[in-house]
Parts: sequence; C-alpha cells; structure tokens
Amino acid sequence: MLHVPVTGSSESAAGEGFLSVRGLNKRYGDFIAVDNLDLDLPKGELVAFLGPSGCGKTTSLRMIAGLVPATSGRIVVGGRDLTTVEPYRRDMGLVFQSYALFPHMSIAENVAFGLKMRKVGRAETEQRVREAISMVRLTGKESHRPAQLSGGQQQRVALARALVIRPSILLLDEPLSNLDAKLRDEMRNEIRDIQQRLGITAIFVTHDQAEALTMCDKVAVMNAGRLEQLGTPVELYEKPQSPFVASFIGRTNRFAAVAKNGAAELAGLSIPTPAGMTGKVEVMIRPHRITLSAPADGAPCHAVEGVVTRSIFAGDILQYEVVAHGATFLVEQGTAAHERPLEQGSPVRLHWLMSDTYVFGAAA
Ligand SMILES: Nc1ncnc2c1ncn2[C@@H]1O[C@H](COP(=O)(O)OP(=O)(O)OP(=O)(O)O)[C@@H](O)[C@H]1O
Ligand SMILES: [Mg+2]
Repeated sequence: MLHVPVTGSSESAAGEGFLSVRGLNKRYGDFIAVDNLDLDLPKGELVAFLGPSGCGKTTSLRMIAGLVPATSGRIVVGGRDLTTVEPYRRDMGLVFQSYALFPHMSIAENVAFGLKMRKVGRAETEQRVREAISMVRLTGKESHRPAQLSGGQQQRVALARALVIRPSILLLDEPLSNLDAKLRDEMRNEIRDIQQRLGITAIFVTHDQAEALTMCDKVAVMNAGRLEQLGTPVELYEKPQSPFVASFIGRTNRFAAVAKNGAAELAGLSIPTPAGMTGKVEVMIRPHRITLSAPADGAPCHAVEGVVTRSIFAGDILQYEVVAHGATFLVEQGTAAHERPLEQGSPVRLHWLMSDTYVFGAAA
C-alpha cells in the first residue's frame, strides 16, 4: 500500500518526536522531583520548560543531558535510545545560567574545548571555532579571557561553545537570568534567531513566563514535578487545562463557587459548568477580556452591574477593581487618547464572553 505523507501539522503527530521522553522519573529518597514526564519534541522546535522554583525543570533537563541519572523512564533522540548512554556521547549542547567558562583559557580555547575532546582535526577545529564565534558576534575577541568580557558576552561564548559541536539538541538552563533586562531582550532574540537559522531542536528552561511565551514554539508548564500542560503559547493562554496553568500564564480573576445541576453561582449569575461537574469549582476570567460595554456582534456573554472601587492609570492600560454582588473583579482596558479614567464610585456594567469563562473542578 502506498503511504501518502500528510502535509501541515503532521510533524507534531501524537507519539512522534525527534526527542521523545517516556515516563521519566527522578526520586530523591521519598521525594519525587520529576514525576512521570512524557514529552515529544519535533525537530527544529524550541520548547520552554516553565514553572515555579523547585518544580523540576533543571532536574528534567539534566536527566535528558545524562548529567543526573533517571530513576526510571526512557529518552530517545532521532530514534536512538540514549537512556543509558554517557553524557558526552549524547551529542547535546549545554548552556548554564552561570556561563561555566574556563577562566584560564582564551575565548577561542573555550569554544574549541568540545571539539578537542572529540578529537576533531586542527584545521576543521579552527574553521568551526571561527564560525561559532562569528555567529554569536564576538569576532575579534578570540584571544580575550572570559574575565575581560561582559556578562552578555560571556553567555554568548557559552552558547558558541555549545553550538560548535553541532549538537542534535541544545539545552539551555536559565541562560539569561544573570543579565540585565535590556541585554536579556537582545539575547532572547539572538538565541531564537540562531536556533531557527540552524534548525536546531532546543529546550529552554525559564521561570519567566514572558520569556517562554515570546521566544518558544511550545511551552511545557511544570508544577511540583509534573508536566501540567504542553502547548503553543496561544493554546496555553486560550485553553488552559488546569487552574494552575490558567493562573500561571497571564493574569486572571479567580472565584471559588459551587457547581450544582450544571451551573455555578457567581455575582448573582448562573455560570454553566462542564457536564458532570459538582461541588467546589473555580471560575476564572481574564481581566482584559472583561469589557464595559456589550459585545457589538451579540456574542453570548455574561453581564453584571457593579461599582468601581479602585481606578489605576498604568499608561497603556487602565486597571479597575469593580465590586459586583460582593465579588471583586479586576478589569483591564486599553487606554485611548482623551478618555478619562472612570472614578472610584462610578457605576459600571461588566461584560465577558461565555467562551472566555473557564470553570475548573477545585483541587481537593
Ligand atoms: N541532589 C538532590 N537531592 C535532593 N533533592 C534535590 C536534589 N536536586 C534537586 N532536588 C530537589 O528537586 C526539586 C526540583 O529541583 P530542580 O532543580 O529541578 O528545580 P527547578 O525547577 O530547576 O527550580 P529553579 O527554578 O529554582 O531552578 C527541588 O525541590 C529540589 O530541592
Ligand atoms: Mg533550575
């Protein structure tokens, strides 16, 4: 039978990935640092591991790199099972938060290190080191020592050192957190450019949601050792699958409510709940999806009368706190020229689309 390849989004088909992680676990005694991680990453994609401190991002990355032995689970790259392969034979490039450059070696020697270990010939080494240094825009600094470079430049050396071995996967653990805000922005763009230009598959660990959402093709949101959700930034924002993801990605109003007979009461409204859901629930609505006028196209929405209890002008947005039937809503509106912010005490009518209302079963 002829096999006809399907075009489009087929490369991320379920169960297939250039990097495939199955049931990866890490225990320290009774403590579960990483709990049954499954992950499929297509070739050429940049995925972020995003989550609060201690959720297992670094441990997961280090298990993939082979620097931390997994308690159980499998790691396959390009069809090759690497689970028991030594780290230096895994063909992975690593960049750490703390640069980890050799202080007594020149920039060129630092970058050449991985090639020397792999016994690459002199002429080829020189050419590849030159290319890698040029890629991170440090040509001219070859004979400097790391201490003679700025933090951003040192991080670029670390990146060149990882790229020069032409790794099958690039692993970056909070590479930008030691840099100031402006440099961080520049380096984000630079890393993304290089990653896309080389078509390299990469994992980027961060606890900065803006970094994850703006740089990466996909984001793996982790919490307490578990992968909560893997998706594109839009999927995570628009279709969060858990209260943790909804509140970790972007800002949100969270209300406790009780589901009964297919609905939960919030501020005098009856909010439809998913089939079969009963008992305690959480209702979530994004502050900027709440409007002060009804949708013009007549889309089904909830509406409630309230009073402005706080009004904050924040330049590009107006933030209102509105109390309606005893519930406090945070509402965000874009600012327009010549528009005066509503004052405290102003009566308002809040509207939000039914489709922008998330209801989750509350955690036990
Ligand atoms: N060698 C170890 N022995 C015992 N517990 C450990 C060890 N290494 C990590 N842990 C624990 O495993 C959990 C996950 O650690 P990990 O370093 O992966 O977190 P992280 O998500 O990278 O956090 P951060 O954002 O702070 O870097 C933490 O609770 C940590 O204390
Ligand atoms: Mg970490």
